[in-house]
Amino acid sequence: MSDTSECRICGGAVHEFFDFGRQPLADAFVDPDGGAEEFFHRLAVAQCESCTMVQLLEDVPRERMFRTDYPYHSSGSTVMQQHFRATARHFLDTELRDPDAFLVEFGSNDGIMLDTVHRAGRRHLGVEPCKGVAEAAAAKGIRVRNAFFEESTAAEIAAADGPAQVVYAANTFSHISYVDSVFRGVDALLAPNGVFVFEDPYMADIIEQTSFDQIYDEHFYFFTVRSVQAMAAHYGFELVDVEHLTVHGGEIRYTVARRGARTPSPAVGLFLEREKAARITERDTLARFAAAVDKVRDDLRAVLERCKAEGATVAAYGATAKSATLTNYCGIGPELVSYVADSTPAKQGRLSPGSHIPVRSPEEFAADYPDYAVLFAWNHAEEIMAKEEGFRRAGGRWIVYVPEVKVV
Ligand code: SAM
Ligand code: TMP
Ligand code: ZN
Repeated sequence: MSDTSECRICGGAVHEFFDFGRQPLADAFVDPDGGAEEFFHRLAVAQCESCTMVQLLEDVPRERMFRTDYPYHSSGSTVMQQHFRATARHFLDTELRDPDAFLVEFGSNDGIMLDTVHRAGRRHLGVEPCKGVAEAAAAKGIRVRNAFFEESTAAEIAAADGPAQVVYAANTFSHISYVDSVFRGVDALLAPNGVFVFEDPYMADIIEQTSFDQIYDEHFYFFTVRSVQAMAAHYGFELVDVEHLTVHGGEIRYTVARRGARTPSPAVGLFLEREKAARITERDTLARFAAAVDKVRDDLRAVLERCKAEGATVAAYGATAKSATLTNYCGIGPELVSYVADSTPAKQGRLSPGSHIPVRSPEEFAADYPDYAVLFAWNHAEEIMAKEEGFRRAGGRWIVYVPEVKVV
């Protein structure tokens, strides 16, 4: 494991602004019958004083996080299915109009986006290191390579399949500490006028909503338009478009091209201005964020302690990777939240990482509603609250903590 106080991108000095202490791997659900000892690492986040990139200080080896049995299956959300269908259609209508066009997606998971590209008959390839989800995609007829995307993989793909008009990654590029190798890979693979498009949680939304649970081992970088523009330039590319997305609590879709290949859209300048006005990369803003995190922790603990004192039953909903940071940082275990309901079969019957809250099925939740449910999957609030409207009808109340702690 490497630990650094130099920016992973530009080599500038980085300043820590929050330390969550020792944290487990956010997707390492625990076998209740024992098994391998849990792996902990130091979760601390810092900002580069030069290029402003926000990044973790400690890098967990990728093979520990992205394993054969990686439990996150993207297709578990119908809202995300719609989002990725629309994304694929957008590419098919623009960059992929030529019948021979080629798209490569890294972090393709269970094929949630590539399914539409495949059905449209376009050349595509998913690059996905986790065997379980890669096989789920392959079972749908999608072309997948079970590997990590990096320079060598990209060069092999370019040699076998030729240049790609689009290289795409959703909720994946920010997971990869070794961006230098990824950019060299994109350079090897991208057609001269091709685009590298990626979407990831937006640091401005994280600050605005105090959504500190977005910070965990897999989320290595926290992008802003300013830091992505600097990063792209550092590797010989250019940020040419940005689009704000509402999914996963607020993300930005960045479009990067070879330097000079495309004219940057006005949205880039507009977002840079907005970020400047909101002072999101200033030290005092990060200090206020740190204070707001501790307020959420204290408020949430107070609500849960009160429920316990009153003898109310409390469960949670959505065994998200994010909730590992929430529960472990706030000291929330089964004594405060008796179980967490989640639709993912690979998580059910296991215990949440570090905090050891049992994961049960949504059917068990519906069979005997608790008095309160903490919405761990707050980024899927609309979908889950609609699906579980019986809970509120039965008198149940949701406890939410983003952007602040509230019982609704
Ligand atoms: N793209 C999907 C989505 O947005 O729902 C999946 C996102 S999931 C949070 C991150 C995915 O990136 C995982 O499936 C993981 O295995 C994959 N991943 C991590 N590092 C990678 C790398 N170097 N190359 C390709 N995929 C990678
Ligand atoms: P995510 O925030 O990383 O997308 O994880 C969401 C988790 O919530 C994932 O484990 C699946 C679960 N989930 C449900 O149990 N029911 C649902 O309706 C949705 C949308 C997600
Ligand atoms: Zn830097």
